[in-house]
Amino acid sequence: MELSSARLHRGQLPWRGILLAASLLLCWSSPTMAQVTVEAVPPHVAEGANVLLLVHNLPETLQVFYWYKGDNVDEKNEIVKLIKPQATYKTQPAYSGKIKVYLNGSLLLRNVAQKDAGPYMLHMKMGNLDVRNASVQFHVHPLLPKPKIKSNNYNPMEGEDSVALMCEPETENTSYLWRRNGQSLSEGDRLKLSEDNRTLTLLSVVRNDTGDYECETRNPVSTSRSYPFHLEITYGPDVPIISPSNTYFRSRTDLSLFCHSAANPPAQYSWFANGELLSSSQELFIPNITTNNSGLYTCFIHYFVTGLNKTTVKNIEVLEPVTTPSIRATKSDVKERDSVHLTCDFNSSDSTIAFRWFHNGKGMEFTDRVFLIQDRVLSISHARKEDSGAYQCEVYNAVSSKRSDPFQLNIRPSLTIYWSSSTMPEVTVEAVPPHVDKGRSVVLLVHDMPEKVQSFSWYKGENMIERNEIARFLKSNKKIETGPAYSGREKIYQHGSLVFRNVNKKDEGTYMLRIKTENFDFRALVHVHVNPK
Ligand SMILES: *[C@@H]1O[C@H](CO)[C@@H](O)[C@H](O)[C@H]1NC(C)=O
Ligand SMILES: *[C@@H]1O[C@H](CO)[C@@H](O)[C@H](O)[C@H]1NC(C)=O
Ligand SMILES: *[C@@H]1O[C@H](CO)[C@@H](O)[C@H](O)[C@H]1NC(C)=O
Ligand SMILES: *[C@@H]1O[C@H](CO)[C@@H](O)[C@H](O)[C@H]1NC(C)=O
Ligand SMILES: *[C@@H]1O[C@H](CO)[C@@H](O)[C@H](O)[C@H]1NC(C)=O
Ligand SMILES: *[C@@H]1O[C@H](CO)[C@@H](O)[C@H](O)[C@H]1NC(C)=O
Ligand SMILES: *[C@@H]1O[C@H](CO)[C@@H](O)[C@H](O)[C@H]1NC(C)=O
Ligand SMILES: *[C@@H]1O[C@H](CO)[C@@H](O)[C@H](O)[C@H]1NC(C)=O
Repeated sequence: MELSSARLHRGQLPWRGILLAASLLLCWSSPTMAQVTVEAVPPHVAEGANVLLLVHNLPETLQVFYWYKGDNVDEKNEIVKLIKPQATYKTQPAYSGKIKVYLNGSLLLRNVAQKDAGPYMLHMKMGNLDVRNASVQFHVHPLLPKPKIKSNNYNPMEGEDSVALMCEPETENTSYLWRRNGQSLSEGDRLKLSEDNRTLTLLSVVRNDTGDYECETRNPVSTSRSYPFHLEITYGPDVPIISPSNTYFRSRTDLSLFCHSAANPPAQYSWFANGELLSSSQELFIPNITTNNSGLYTCFIHYFVTGLNKTTVKNIEVLEPVTTPSIRATKSDVKERDSVHLTCDFNSSDSTIAFRWFHNGKGMEFTDRVFLIQDRVLSISHARKEDSGAYQCEVYNAVSSKRSDPFQLNIRPSLTIYWSSSTMPEVTVEAVPPHVDKGRSVVLLVHDMPEKVQSFSWYKGENMIERNEIARFLKSNKKIETGPAYSGREKIYQHGSLVFRNVNKKDEGTYMLRIKTENFDFRALVHVHVNPK
């Protein structure tokens, strides 16, 4: 034991000192007298470190003080007795070589162990025989060792297994904290923590539970983190996905198909077409494809982990690019109020064709007067000056498109007088085509329809018998009404023409259009021939 300040000897106190002590004694007995307190610095001590029991407001009139281990005066537990005026001390039974006492009352404990923790008491005797006590307490904690993670399952399967990760070793008064890929984890749907947080349970693992797990231990004096524990989940294979997703491919290009199925560990891939093995890898490559390469392609997955197989089939159609179409007109000389139709001619061996029409370079908008009677036939009735211009048709399929050269249509001003109400109209009806293949469509195209029609009706046959009426149009209600002979395959336009779809032999024969204007009631006939197929 050491005493750190120079020793004073009995009888050396000067008069001034005594007077000072007396005056302090006065203050001290006053109610404002400061309380003696002892503070442990630090209150939580790591094993092997030092702690100072720091005394505040040590009374000046102090004669003798004692330090005890424990919180009462017990000779067995006495550590040291210090006689202040003489600055002498005496070690007592509970003393150990690790202790150092200071004249200011403070006690230093070095290299503390668990057993040193607990309460300590400072017992003081004053010059006036007054007695005072002050107690303090500190805690000793071990320095935490590096923890380790133990798992109950090192090869869990997605959707089947639960995994419990345990942080070892278990130490008292330690809190545990978990991280996945550096992010701290808290309880969730599938994530449970034991009461002390030492065990992390992942219920019914999924693939994204894969990752690096760490546990951290903490007590008031230390923090320690485990090495990352890599958790690997076995999963899959998922239903394979083939990319790209399109069906149509252009001939004379290279075909490259990629198959993907998420699985850990990875699955084995192979490609088949028509039962023939084409490739044993994830990618299928066929250079310079032809239409002969069209067909069903199968991506086959074999998974050695589970012995399961999975397949996805993809339909591939290889198309030739379309060839350039051209436009043909039914008349070369078109006057105002004439009817004309433009046909888009294309190479009939081209596959999966669709059409688009353009007038003066812009996509066409169709009206009651200018419309498509089939995708490839544009009908213009009651031609007007503004119908003049360049027409183009475009054919396209899934892999290509081609536009025709512009077809110039000029509508000449008509020299004939406008329909006067007293002139008998010269309406004609044309069947387009005149001979139609069974199952195809025919258009009964009306030429020179008067503008001021009050009503018109279509009949099958040449007689105006009610049960033969297919449909009628009444200007008054601007509506087309179907009649008893309507089969569901006819479409009637407000300018008079009728499109007949999916014709059969029974549809062959004469059709009649009856037109009423203010002054006239007249008829036009047309004959439809159906070719058997
Ligand atoms: C100090 O503690 C002792 C032992 O516990 C007790 O006998 C005594 O009364 C206490 N004195 C004061 C002033 O608290
Ligand atoms: C008492 O002395 C020790 C050692 O010199 C010092 O660390 C401590 O701060 C002192 N206590 C007070 C209350 O001044
Ligand atoms: C843990 O804390 C309790 C209550 O604070 C205490 O009684 C016990 O001694 C502590 N144990 C250790 C090893 O520090
Ligand atoms: C367990 O961890 C949670 C945070 O995830 C925390 O709120 C809780 O106090 C911890 N429990 C214990 C006993 O440490
Ligand atoms: C993990 O997967 C589950 C379900 O499959 C999902 O709810 C969750 O958001 C995913 N978590 C992450 C981080 O992707
Ligand atoms: C692709 O095949 C066609 C015949 O189908 C051939 O004429 C052409 O040269 C081939 N192209 C390449 C790049 O091999
Ligand atoms: C497609 O296959 C047929 C018969 O196998 C063959 O005659 C033809 O030349 C092939 N066509 C192409 C474009 O390779
Ligand atoms: C999966 O395919 C393999 C051939 O690659 C076959 O031997 C095996 O029997 C198949 N397994 C199942 C479950 O169909």
